[in-house]
Amino acid sequence: MTNTDTEIEEKLEEEVPGNEKGAIVVHIEHLKKSFGTKEVLKDITFDLKQGENLVVLGKSGTGKSVAIKCLIGMLTQDEGVCEVFGKEVKDLKETELKELRQKIGFLFQSGALYDSMTVRDNLAFPLTRVLHMTDTAEIDKLIEEMLDNVGLKDAIDKMPSDLSGGMRKRIGLARTLIMKPKIMLYDEPTTGLDPITSKEISELMLTMQKKYKISSIIITHDIACARITSDRMVIMKEGVITAEGTFDELESSKDEFVRAFFK
Ligand SMILES: Nc1ncnc2c1ncn2[C@@H]1O[C@H](COP(=O)(O)OP(=O)(O)OP(=O)(O)O)[C@@H](O)[C@H]1O
Ligand SMILES: [Mg+2]
Repeated sequence: MTNTDTEIEEKLEEEVPGNEKGAIVVHIEHLKKSFGTKEVLKDITFDLKQGENLVVLGKSGTGKSVAIKCLIGMLTQDEGVCEVFGKEVKDLKETELKELRQKIGFLFQSGALYDSMTVRDNLAFPLTRVLHMTDTAEIDKLIEEMLDNVGLKDAIDKMPSDLSGGMRKRIGLARTLIMKPKIMLYDEPTTGLDPITSKEISELMLTMQKKYKISSIIITHDIACARITSDRMVIMKEGVITAEGTFDELESSKDEFVRAFFK
């Protein structure tokens, strides 16, 4: 790790979550991305501050997933700035990108667990394969801590197929959090769950954010999830950010398009 990385990490550690002067962990400015002749991101600008939960709302196909894929270097923007921890993602060397990805956790809609592995092995996988940990006592301790966090300690020796959708989502969250990410990217984390389970997952996301001081970008269509988790929200429309504010501010917006999300 270079000095600058250490300095950035120390700075982040010092910041108080929710502090107005919080460090900016993600900075996106005038981001543009087209596929062929299709302009998907036209001009996207937003920041994510240390310890903050930022919810991104937008109709299907407006480029929400494309924007977060630029953040982890899965896609490269055509124009504009896409910085994480002060570094432009598209300029990172392969090893730097790998390091960055270890600090970012994703929870995608599918939450893909390995079906042929027990819950324990699913959680051990990132520790042994990505972090190359070998101390089994330490690995077991981390697995138990994370399963306890998501209220599923008893599921440790179960197969994913024996779990409900909500439980699988919790295990997916535990598996992501076991890497102790600094940033979490949630892409529709509650889709496909019933309203009560969705609420439980949203509350769990909030608890984990506070416990581990994570900064999160949460893409969702679930307005209850947005209400529970968001510190701040942005709304995307046709490749631009059309509104920004707290849940309450946007819910009472004068703009019909914005208010429509809250109905
Ligand atoms: N790799 C790609 N190649 C070509 N087109 C793509 C690619 N990725 C995304 N797109 C297009 O970009 C547009 C935006 O896609 P994106 O998945 O970001 O939408 P979204 O806002 O996340 O929608 P949803 O809410 O349905 O998930 C879509 O028209 C999609 O077809
Ligand atoms: Mg999407």
